[in-house]
Amino acid sequence: MDGDDPRGGAILGTAFHTPEQGHLEVLKDALILVDGEGWIERVSVPGQPDYERRLRAARQQGRLSTLPTGHCLIPGLVDLHIHASQWPQLGGALDDPLEVWLQKYTFPLEAEYANVDFARRVYQDLVDTLLHHGTTTALYFATVHREASLALAEICAVRGQRALVGKVAMDDPRANPDNCRDADATRALADSRAFIEDVRALCDGDTPLVQPVITPRFIPSCTPALLSGLGRLAEETGCRIQTHCSESDWEVGYVRAEHGGTDCQVLHRHGLLREHTVLAHCNFVSDDDLRLITAQGAGVAHCPLSNLYFANAVFPLRHALEHGARVGLGTDISGGYSPFLLDSARQGIAVSRLRSSGVDPTLAPEQRGLPGDALSAREAFWLATAGGADTLGLPVGRLAEGYKFDALQIAAGSSGSGLRYWPGRTSDEQWFEKIVLNATPGDIRRTWVNGRVVAAKGES
Ligand code: GUN
Ligand code: FE
Repeated sequence: MDGDDPRGGAILGTAFHTPEQGHLEVLKDALILVDGEGWIERVSVPGQPDYERRLRAARQQGRLSTLPTGHCLIPGLVDLHIHASQWPQLGGALDDPLEVWLQKYTFPLEAEYANVDFARRVYQDLVDTLLHHGTTTALYFATVHREASLALAEICAVRGQRALVGKVAMDDPRANPDNCRDADATRALADSRAFIEDVRALCDGDTPLVQPVITPRFIPSCTPALLSGLGRLAEETGCRIQTHCSESDWEVGYVRAEHGGTDCQVLHRHGLLREHTVLAHCNFVSDDDLRLITAQGAGVAHCPLSNLYFANAVFPLRHALEHGARVGLGTDISGGYSPFLLDSARQGIAVSRLRSSGVDPTLAPEQRGLPGDALSAREAFWLATAGGADTLGLPVGRLAEGYKFDALQIAAGSSGSGLRYWPGRTSDEQWFEKIVLNATPGDIRRTWVNGRVVAAKGES
């Protein structure tokens, strides 16, 4: 076996995953066999008929990697909404509402990606950092620039991160500054089409590691001609779509005034609500919008931290799940200030608990909140892994046969973290919950994508 790379080999250790919403599966001392293409071939646990035989065979062939005590495996994290280009302003510029923030800070920063050298420096640092933070799949917004956006896709392919990359489409001169927009709809469509072809040429196979995404920034940034053209481009190319949807009071009001409908209705009208379209935020969606999202097979990237700054509301997550909508989690860098998707899971739990209990102590308890909205650690982890993967329609997010081995090795006990495993005291379920709530990026010893180690620290 090549180092800790289980491709064509096996890994032995306790693994946790949440294959279905709220359902934790503990795979105690599991033997996970990975084929030469990075697919999980077989997961077996002690007591199953093939376990001992496969374990012996892997050992004899020198293809077994065994996790030490206090270490375990979890699926890699799926970040369903992240602006790669906003990495340099992470942790700042959060003092204004969305519409001011875009014009004052974000468009001027994104305009700098006309410089491809600058783009490469930022994107290399970001992709490397995210792999150390356990993000094995990312759905990226780059910028309007074709060349710099392609650089992001190339860096993901070279570093081995599973990624869906979007060249942002934004042509409306009323909403975007001249130095940060497509010249017009025709040019935007030609560039989006060329970008799709360029990214598709980077990776082959039936599950390419890096794929293009059609990316209208949000309805206010785009002319109707561009929105319709992108809908047709999606139909023609089969490419996935991502955009922002019903994010804030201002944004929802703008779309209603200019387009005469909700974001979902307008996107649908232009052919942009399709299977695996990912809609960031959706804070203000109606029940009809949710039915439309679900019927079309689209899904939501819930970004709880960014919502606290920009949304004027908290996404009705439970309600969306009960409508059958696909949902995952996003960091929304830099509207959210953390690159760590488990922080998004924790923030998702926190805001759901505020929704559930309510926030105004002057109200009577029974009038204060929306009981039933609280999210469990298992559900939050499911959103961060399998939920996000299903929203994208990618075979990741679970440690099971037929899925790609995209995984993290977690170790307890470092002084930089509160994550502890107490032998004889910590049950498996508690161990899992501690990881969801306490793990830091420093506790991630190995990150695998497609069966390959793409980030490692310390002793394995
Ligand atoms: N809406 C349009 N552009 C953006 C963006 O960059 N971030 C967020 N959070 N919302 C947006
Ligand atoms: Fe965003």
